[in-house]
Amino acid sequence: MTMNFIYKSIIDAILKNTDIGIHVVDSAGKAIIYNQAMADMEGLDIHEVMGKSILDIFPSLTHETSTLLTVLKTRKPIYNKFQTYLNHKGKQINTLNSTIPIMISPGKHGALEIAKNITKEKELAAKLVYLQQELASKDIDHKSLKGYTFRNIIGEDEKFLEAIEVGRKAAMSSSTVLISGETGTGKELFAQSIHNGSSRKRKPFIAQNCAALPESLLEGILFGTVKGSFTGAINRPGLFEQANGGSLLLDEINSMGHQLQAKLLRVLQEGYVRRVGGLADIPIDVRILATTNEDPLLMLNKGILRKDLYYRLNVITVTIPSLKERKTDIPLLTDHFIKKYNNILQKDIWYVSSEVGEAFMHYDWPGNVRELENIIESAINMINSGHIIKSEHISPDMRERLFKPDGRRFGLSLSEDQSLDNILKEVEKSIILETMQESGNNISRCSEKLGIKRQTLQHKLKKYGIRV
Ligand SMILES: Nc1ncnc2c1ncn2[C@@H]1O[C@H](COP(=O)(O)OP(=O)(O)OP(=O)(O)O)[C@@H](O)[C@H]1O
Ligand SMILES: [Mg+2]
Repeated sequence: MTMNFIYKSIIDAILKNTDIGIHVVDSAGKAIIYNQAMADMEGLDIHEVMGKSILDIFPSLTHETSTLLTVLKTRKPIYNKFQTYLNHKGKQINTLNSTIPIMISPGKHGALEIAKNITKEKELAAKLVYLQQELASKDIDHKSLKGYTFRNIIGEDEKFLEAIEVGRKAAMSSSTVLISGETGTGKELFAQSIHNGSSRKRKPFIAQNCAALPESLLEGILFGTVKGSFTGAINRPGLFEQANGGSLLLDEINSMGHQLQAKLLRVLQEGYVRRVGGLADIPIDVRILATTNEDPLLMLNKGILRKDLYYRLNVITVTIPSLKERKTDIPLLTDHFIKKYNNILQKDIWYVSSEVGEAFMHYDWPGNVRELENIIESAINMINSGHIIKSEHISPDMRERLFKPDGRRFGLSLSEDQSLDNILKEVEKSIILETMQESGNNISRCSEKLGIKRQTLQHKLKKYGIRV
């Protein structure tokens, strides 16, 4: 098999199966390649187009308005041009096109157009802005959706209390805050609490996830757009303008591309936004809160976060510990969520069985507090009679993870810390748990069995977060 043959069959397969539209014209402007994805976007049949000149296929186009013909003439590429048109079925199609000059045979030039259909993303973006505007206008008091404050945040662990303390101080100032923590640790809760504890609490709190949208759309959403800046663009304020006077939460800031990071930095430094395609500098007064679910320093070192932006955002840093770093809070949170879902689901659940409680303490909670909350909510839903959450009420896949035998060694939690000190602590904890159970949760009886003072046992129970 010749190399040419192999290339051809690979390219044929790509052309046929990709959802990127491809249109190649020869030096006379006639189609020599036109794939199915392009035909679907333009609502045409491949054979209607092949071999024909672009002006015959699209009578409304001219030598000047057709990007393919323009590139054929100028031999200069045009990248990421936004185009919008009605296809034959009358549906509005939005595409992002790049048109590139290519050599077809020695001395003969053609042009290649690559089109990406972004209709769905555009529709989603429009919906998002609409919903956010609705939310901002309906919320008369401009309070946040859930109205969380630091009082609703549960936790007594030392590191966690430190994070709350920093958060409370942050609420007093107008500086930017970078909140980091694994997924489900409560970053959004903190952001809302900072806003609701600040003097901006009566103004809007708007959250935007930076990972959910392609960069070009995110830019328009954050900074707004001006009619005519690109085909189909309308006059629309961005979230910066909508959040004016209030707070804007940029969730998962680590997903933002470098170019947009640079634009964001400019806005933060200058206090003005310029809508995409606009000329006017619009003054804004917005408190920026940003979150990352990775260690910000690590992202800085990896080059994901721009240094200049990092230092601008990182005026106040709140680092929320993961749940496995604050296991002593598990019983507290368990109680809190049981109460919460008793209320919501109109149930009367008292506590979790000691087997479940113990498994909670051994598990490493990759989904953090959110995962704990979900387990409790789902278990409470499953209980038909009785007042105790037992292992049978936990969904089978979760139960498997929670009670996974290789997750524990001799009844001990298999934490990453394998130091002797830590192993001894784990042994001590597991013996206390076992003896407490045998003693019917009676502290005097248990301390007697263990041969230690009552106060010593009480101290250890507290240290290991064992609730009686
Ligand atoms: N300390 C806490 N006290 C009470 N509830 C909490 C606490 N932490 C988290 N939660 C609960 O967990 C849910 C998830 O929290 P949140 O949405 O703030 O997490 P996140 O860190 O933003 O996660 P992600 O990175 O996945 O977006 C909250 O809706 C809340 O119900
Ligand atoms: Mg979040």
